[in-house]
Amino acid sequence: MAERYFQTTPIFYVNDRPHLGTAYTVVVADALARWHRLIGDDVFFLTGTDEYGLKVARAAAERGLSPKAWVDEASEWFRKAWAELGITNDAFIRTTDPEHEVAVREFIQTVHDNGHIYKGEYAGWYCVSCENYYTDEELLEGQRCPIHERAVEWLTEENYFFRLSSFTDALLEWYAAHPQAVLPASRRNEALGLIRQGLEDISITRTNFDWGVRVPFDEQHVVYVWFDALVNYMTAVGYGVDPARFASWWPAVHHLVGKDIVKFHCVWWPAMCMAAGLEPPHTVVAHGWLLVGGTKMSKSRANQIDPVELAGEVGLDPLRYHLLRDVTLGADGDFTYEGLIGRYNADLANNLGNLLARVSTVVTSKCEGVAPPPSAEARLAGVAAEVIAAARDAWARSAPHEALEATWQLIRETNAELEAREPWKLPPGDEVAAVLGDALEALRLTALLAYPAIPDSALEIWRRLGFSGSPADHGAGEPTSGVLAWGLGEGGQVVEKGDPLFPRRQL
Ligand code: MSP
Repeated sequence: MAERYFQTTPIFYVNDRPHLGTAYTVVVADALARWHRLIGDDVFFLTGTDEYGLKVARAAAERGLSPKAWVDEASEWFRKAWAELGITNDAFIRTTDPEHEVAVREFIQTVHDNGHIYKGEYAGWYCVSCENYYTDEELLEGQRCPIHERAVEWLTEENYFFRLSSFTDALLEWYAAHPQAVLPASRRNEALGLIRQGLEDISITRTNFDWGVRVPFDEQHVVYVWFDALVNYMTAVGYGVDPARFASWWPAVHHLVGKDIVKFHCVWWPAMCMAAGLEPPHTVVAHGWLLVGGTKMSKSRANQIDPVELAGEVGLDPLRYHLLRDVTLGADGDFTYEGLIGRYNADLANNLGNLLARVSTVVTSKCEGVAPPPSAEARLAGVAAEVIAAARDAWARSAPHEALEATWQLIRETNAELEAREPWKLPPGDEVAAVLGDALEALRLTALLAYPAIPDSALEIWRRLGFSGSPADHGAGEPTSGVLAWGLGEGGQVVEKGDPLFPRRQL
């Protein structure tokens, strides 16, 4: 039976335009979703925008707009940018969607009814950019936010608190029993460290502005933006309105988040789920930051790169491939144009492009353009089996860089096989057919394995190899689609010799 796989991205604040850093998150999530569809899982892929809170209210006021008018406009930037980057999300949630209000009110009421919320007074240093309070120890010199390096503000409010402190033991027990709950291991240790340090209750409502979801048990208050935002993951699968749908997707959820929001997703959110009587998320994968010149991309530093413009210039697949292959998921990565072009020339132009060109040229000139079948005993069959196992394992651990490294091993070995046997020098006949049959099968598998990273190119390779449909049409009438095993490409189809798929680029 198909497994359920619910992939999420963080929902993006609408005070800032999409940039390459935020695009990195959605590209990784998209690749994971595509991989899981390819292997036959039942996938639901969610992204969206985070539209409440003081930061957004202020951004609207600065422009002389009502918050709603502002978020309607700014949310579209994200929807459009992700569409232009070929992101295959099944839904796009906005926290101002009416269903989300229903879900948040139901969630907070349940947590309240379960006895985990109380009224108190809060005073502290608040960073509006983070929408978060900081303790004195956490602040940089001069009362500045550790993330944004900007001055924080002193706020005093009467509000409701969530008893996070009472979940310390439950969280530690839960993490001990669920080793896959935070990936990679370095981020898991970070989450455990935060819990072991001791947890303080958190203030989860506000009265100093009204741009938020009203608290059902005290309508003077609005729900704190992080408490509301996290619930989006449940709203999108029917929480509060469609219990059967919700039960079919929860807790099969895989959150992808940046390292800056580990505390919210790996400490607050599982405790909130427990408080509402629900299972915490299956997995939170936390990636590092994509840096430019060693610093994080952000509006305040004016070092943002527009991902749609960049994709228009270098091609979408080369950009996706670079982000997925060159950033070790979990660690920070530094974006450079030189790195992108270097990777493109080495892996796409030289390795993959060259293999496709060689194979299609020789099939055309020596096999009348018709694919010969692969051999079960081929050396490449063994290589392919190892590569498929390694790629499966790496994707399952949310490690695209490793999955792609393994995939390119198959490409390199196939090129090496061709160089050793030089079919272009042989007369047409059985030997050429044997070499080409195996190389074509290796290319079929490569198109499948590379599809999550370079979907448009994989589709073009698929078409040139003479297959119909797409590599991802799992079980949809194309017997070779989605099937990761050597020998299923039976040969007999007409192969097309086309223009170079990845022409070399100059810097
Ligand atoms: N709205 C919250 C998330 C709520 S989820 C319930 C938020 N939004 S954000 O727009 O500030 O950031 C969204 C995501 O983008 C975060 O995971 C953050 O780490 C990621 N990134 C923002 N800049 C980034 C880089 N330069 N590099 C990698 N990821 C970056 O936080």
